[in-house]
Amino acid sequence: MARSNGNRQGIISQTSPKSAMAEAYRTLRTNLGFASLDETCRSILVTSAGPGDGKSTTASNLAVVLAQAGHQVILVDCDLRKPMQHKIFGVENGRGLANCLLQNLPVEEIAHKDLVQNLTVLTSGPIPPNPAEILASEKVRTLWGTLLEHYDYVVVDSPPVLAVTDTPLLASQIQGVLLVVEAASTRTDIAKDAKEQLVRANARLLGVVLNKVKMQSQDYYYYYYYHREESSPPA
Ligand SMILES: Nc1ncnc2c1ncn2[C@@H]1O[C@H](COP(=O)(O)OP(=O)(O)O)[C@@H](O)[C@H]1O
Ligand SMILES: [Mg+2]
Repeated sequence: MARSNGNRQGIISQTSPKSAMAEAYRTLRTNLGFASLDETCRSILVTSAGPGDGKSTTASNLAVVLAQAGHQVILVDCDLRKPMQHKIFGVENGRGLANCLLQNLPVEEIAHKDLVQNLTVLTSGPIPPNPAEILASEKVRTLWGTLLEHYDYVVVDSPPVLAVTDTPLLASQIQGVLLVVEAASTRTDIAKDAKEQLVRANARLLGVVLNKVKMQSQDYYYYYYYHREESSPPA
């Protein structure tokens, strides 16, 4: 698949691997226990309560640091309303997940391979008129098993939990879920609502990523912090 010349500013783990933020994503990888392949957690859905919290940024960087560790990784953009992964990686989105599901096209034919060594990206494809229906289909459920046969890790970017019904359903089909919380703006009750919806759908919550934290240092930069599942989502 042809690659456009778009920039990749969103993937700091690739463009600035020595930055504090890239280091934070590697710490996230370690904290999640991905240093060794755990059969029970090879698919990870990244989500959050609302739009703009950093789901797509977290999903792409997590996928990159897993690939950098030598794992074969596929990143799937399941946000069929506001897809971002093609923009983050600067690739075309003429065909993607929607085509796999609606036209039975094989993933290997349309996914973007080796955008980063070991990383394949399946963009959303054209935005369909009925995303909820498509994501609820049996084909999606079987897709995860197929991908896990070919890849070490499947990282899934998703729509916000509280905006649509897609995410809790998706989360129940994926082995582990990461909840992104934007430090400055996500209210505790909203984060708890999102967590409860996921738990109600029988999702396995791996932890919370606190995103866009302003550091108390001379340089103000964004940082990540990982909380274990037992701790409640921070304000
Ligand atoms: N840790 C971060 N530091 C700086 N900017 C960030 C960070 N995480 C996300 N962003 C920016 O915030 C905006 C929304 O992020 P995005 O990942 O698209 O959110 P979502 O997928 O939850 O809607 C984007 O412009 C992205 O570049
Ligand atoms: Mg997004």
